[in-house]
Amino acid sequence: MTARLDVELTHALDRTLGAGRGLSEESLRKALRPAGDLASWVEEEPQRAALLALALDAGPAEQAAAWAASRPPAQHVVVVGIGGSALSARVFEAIAPEDGPHLHVVDTVDPATVQSLMGRLDPGATLLLAISKSGTTLETTAVFPLLEAWLRSALGDDAVARIAVVCGPEPSPLRTHAEARGYALFDVPPAVGGRYSALTPVGLLPAACIGVDPRALLAGAAEARRRCLEPLIADNPALALAAAHRAAESAGRRVAVLWPYGEALKPLGPWWAQLVGESLGKPVSGGAAGVTPVAASGPADQHSLLQLLIEGPDDKLTVFVDAPSASGPVVPEQAAELTFARGKGLGALLAAEREATEYALARSGRPSIRIRLAAADAPSIGAFVLTWQMAVVYWGRMLGVDPFGQPGVTLGKQAAQAVLTGEPADLAAKLAAHRAQPRTRSL
Ligand code: PA5
Repeated sequence: MTARLDVELTHALDRTLGAGRGLSEESLRKALRPAGDLASWVEEEPQRAALLALALDAGPAEQAAAWAASRPPAQHVVVVGIGGSALSARVFEAIAPEDGPHLHVVDTVDPATVQSLMGRLDPGATLLLAISKSGTTLETTAVFPLLEAWLRSALGDDAVARIAVVCGPEPSPLRTHAEARGYALFDVPPAVGGRYSALTPVGLLPAACIGVDPRALLAGAAEARRRCLEPLIADNPALALAAAHRAAESAGRRVAVLWPYGEALKPLGPWWAQLVGESLGKPVSGGAAGVTPVAASGPADQHSLLQLLIEGPDDKLTVFVDAPSASGPVVPEQAAELTFARGKGLGALLAAEREATEYALARSGRPSIRIRLAAADAPSIGAFVLTWQMAVVYWGRMLGVDPFGQPGVTLGKQAAQAVLTGEPADLAAKLAAHRAQPRTRSL
């Protein structure tokens, strides 16, 4: 394998699993029908074009790396952000060097979490990043000033060098706040939405601050970009993923499972679940589109979800993700009476368990796809991120869904504002009626 990422459909196909168990070639061809010339289709629409352009623009990665390199020494990087403004930082943390600063993502207003962070961290060894494309999100705009005050009360004006804000270029409360206080500001391109923003400063700045080279992330994404425009699914991993999922969904498989093996790949699950869930869960003529994404993790979920996947409802498509792992510590030979794994490296165990799980699914006629990464490193993760983003864009096209909006999320944000402030008044009135409904505890 020379590419950073390879998609294998073998165990998803009828021809391997048995007729009617997996995906037929005819169903894949049907899913691919709208394909045509992908490059011109992508360029037709600004959000698609902006997403693909990210991989070729070295500027934001250079700026992020330069800012991180010129900061005062730090052992902790606190990211205040939520949803698409937080999940990619967690993905990049998992491949960060162990001796670099620790990442703390605050995507909550839970009082104990915020208080404990302020109690535990040394402000003089902390960088604080506030990340919000809209610059208005409740959780971020409420928690950031608390952490900012904590940093400022300990360091005075020296705190300024330790704070950066990432937001959209249009006016917003967060932007105004950052400008007034002289914080470093990084722009999110207007046409790139939250869950598509991992390769903008939203992901690149935290990555740089914890020792992951943002240029290496982009190098992998640039390779993926080229492949994601190829016309054939054999050459185009995004198209392969989209077609397989679309075909599976048409056959009633409305649950998608992402199952990475290895701790460095584990945070891919929640990131991917948001991308798939929020992008595709939309109305379509005659019903609603979308699959339920389930983020699994190996080997732990062999002892949790696997039973359901093998003998529960046959409505799922599983995608394994793995990367070659170092052999690591070897199980002592002296443990002969304890385990048949004696003499084997833990890396070999991990690989064996993934293969065994894939086999167990296949033997039960349950389809799975395998994504092999060249390594659990920045270029491969950059390739994974862009490939899945493009897969969701293609999948949305196959479904007739706009993968970029999120009206459901917006309604939730507005309702939270109405609960807290009584504005907008019409929404607050609806909430009052909702609240006044008699409580039903038994029928
Ligand atoms: O994908 C999305 O658009 C959302 O999940 C947002 O990322 C999330 O709501 C946070 O929004 P913002 O970055 O504006 O604070």
